Amino acid sequence: MAEVEFDPAAVTDEVSEGIGEIREASDLEELKALKSRYSGAGSAMARASRAIGSLSADRKKTAGQLIGKLRADFGRAYGLKEGQLQQEEEDRRLRAERVDMTLPVDRKPQGARHPLTRLMEDVEDFFVSMGWRIAQGPELEAEWYNFDALNFGPDHPARQMQDTFYVKGNQARDAAGFVGSNMVMRTHTSPDQARSLITRGVPLYVACTGRVFRTDELDATHTPVFHQCEAIAVDEHLTMADLKGVLDKLAAAMFGPEARTRLRPSYFPFTEPSAEMDLWFPDRKGGPGWIEWGGCGMVNPNVLRSAGVDPDKYSGFAFGVGMERTLLLRHDINDMHDLVEGDVRFSQQFEMGE
Ligand code: PHE
Repeated sequence: MAEVEFDPAAVTDEVSEGIGEIREASDLEELKALKSRYSGAGSAMARASRAIGSLSADRKKTAGQLIGKLRADFGRAYGLKEGQLQQEEEDRRLRAERVDMTLPVDRKPQGARHPLTRLMEDVEDFFVSMGWRIAQGPELEAEWYNFDALNFGPDHPARQMQDTFYVKGNQARDAAGFVGSNMVMRTHTSPDQARSLITRGVPLYVACTGRVFRTDELDATHTPVFHQCEAIAVDEHLTMADLKGVLDKLAAAMFGPEARTRLRPSYFPFTEPSAEMDLWFPDRKGGPGWIEWGGCGMVNPNVLRSAGVDPDKYSGFAFGVGMERTLLLRHDINDMHDLVEGDVRFSQQFEMGE
């Protein structure tokens, strides 16, 4: 049988070249690739092993010893490098996963104030900046304040059960000495007009924010419990121009300098003349436009009279705006549920950037 080509110098060279590259390898993947290149099927070492069988007996022995030594050298270099790279990768992983045990932990996640609360404070700040007083009347109110004092006739439809929560059994008795009315959950903040007139007298510049109640179902645009802001000014010589001025200023304070208001004739028993008030809303989705924002008018002389104020000497204006509506418009919120469900993540969005 003829001898297959066997060149000890060439095998030795290739193996030492492989060992050199192994020492330089920078990760385990590269190391594995070197192993198959220098000891796999196509390598000089593998070819030499296969050739040994065809060599003459005396060459076979030295060739066998050489290949054995080269394999051992290569294996040692490989093992050494593999251990070293494994250690390095382990160190790197541990460094990356390190946890700083000394960092402070947020054990009690912070809450956030409801955007409605903040809006009401903004509105109150607006009035305080004009020198007005802030007042707050009771939510469980005498029917007399909620309706009679505001010139609602005894059969006015708003008194009916579908709008008003009547509260059983209680008879009103209040600081002004009034006794004997049924109790209702107030349906608007306007009873604070009469309360302020009676308890503070004239001249009067008061704003009242607070909760009001109507027998509506909760849906995307209604809630049975909502908030209003009431404003009433009574003084000598007040006119509708004063009303319009305050409304425009409030609109600008809430919605930016471009916002303004317009009035459309309407009817409320407690104001005469009365108007619906629309807001010019420049940032509305689908283009700028007028949006209904509240009710207003000149205080009806009957209301002044029922609070003991002389309508020949004094006149006044009043308006009421819905706070939820203001918030929905201002922040482009589409669903009332977001306002009433109390998910702190909703409120947190409004705390950002402050
Ligand atoms: N109270 C009225 C309402 O709830 C709004 C309003 C307030 C109208 C003051 C005129 C004057 O709709």
